[in-house]
Amino acid sequence: MKATHRLLATTGIGVLLGPLITYFWPARLEETPSGPVAIGKEGSIPAASSKTVQFGRHPALVINIEEKGLVSYIAVCTHFACIVKWNPVSGMIECPCHAGFFDPRDGSVISGPPPAPLEKLDISIDGDTLYIMSEV
Ligand code: FES
Repeated sequence: MKATHRLLATTGIGVLLGPLITYFWPARLEETPSGPVAIGKEGSIPAASSKTVQFGRHPALVINIEEKGLVSYIAVCTHFACIVKWNPVSGMIECPCHAGFFDPRDGSVISGPPPAPLEKLDISIDGDTLYIMSEV
């Protein structure tokens, strides 16, 4: 077998095995990060817009509410754990699974089946970088 064939065979095996290894032994993510997680530069989330970032094993939603400023929540619905999104048109955080609606100002339930508010995250700034972290 020529060297180029061996190289191609080795590469092919690596391409096939890589996803299998990742599937069965995924990278370990902290359930909830023990420290602050950078979410971008100050001013990177314009008023009336939002950004979804990874926070440990969960997505986090950061919203810049025009009258309140930045707020952040774990973007996991408290009903059956669907991922919630902010709707700038309705002005609410919405769960697409069973029509749950949350108030973006404090994460409280407006209507629908969610039994509890969204988990709030603290926002801080260090230098010109924004961070989110679990509430203390
Ligand atoms: S999972 Fe969100 S309302 Fe049911």
